[in-house]
Amino acid sequence: MIKPTTIVQQEKKRIAVFASGTGSNAQKIIEHFNYGNKGATVALVVSNNTATGVLKIAEKENIPSLIIERNKFYEDGYLPALKKIRIDIIVLAGFMWKVPDQLIQSYQNKIINIHPALLPKFGGKNMYGNFVHEAVLKAGEKESGITIHYVDEIYDHGKIIFQAKCTIDDNETTETLADKIHALEHEFYSSIIEKVLLTA
Ligand code: GAR
Repeated sequence: MIKPTTIVQQEKKRIAVFASGTGSNAQKIIEHFNYGNKGATVALVVSNNTATGVLKIAEKENIPSLIIERNKFYEDGYLPALKKIRIDIIVLAGFMWKVPDQLIQSYQNKIINIHPALLPKFGGKNMYGNFVHEAVLKAGEKESGITIHYVDEIYDHGKIIFQAKCTIDDNETTETLADKIHALEHEFYSSIIEKVLLTA
């Protein structure tokens, strides 16, 4: 007699993407996980900005969104809301607020960020988006790139997971550099998130 086997279906990990801007990285991450048969799904989009592109993306993709307010964010980190919808991992994709300590402690090694330069250079408070590219060009760097890292209590400081580089040409502008950086981000962020998720 053939013994019946039990197939245990593993539940997908649930990702919250935090973003403040256009959301091109969020879009790529959603396409990667929600359109492919992966071990995770983007279950929530979180933004501090009501007028941002990423909320339109969430709506179009039928993903619930949460607009956060500064005082409450630094009071309870929206932890009850995140736990209620069973968020396992937090991915920052152009999120401009510092993550509160209580969130970092509750999601130890489960919050990752992408930074548009080669950390530890050009990181820290107020170093985001085009401000980073301006600083890189002003410093006369010959290369820039992306850094994917765990988030800890200090801005742009957590353990580095992955970096990729691009060259800076003589006639480089903030805009052309931003395009190169976005291309690297779109190429690598989702697969690195997937690798981190599998071992989390
Ligand atoms: C990305 O380039 C990301 O690295 C950067 O904001 C951009 C968001 O683009 N993040 C930071 O500067 C964080 N310090 P997007 O809205 O098109 O995804």
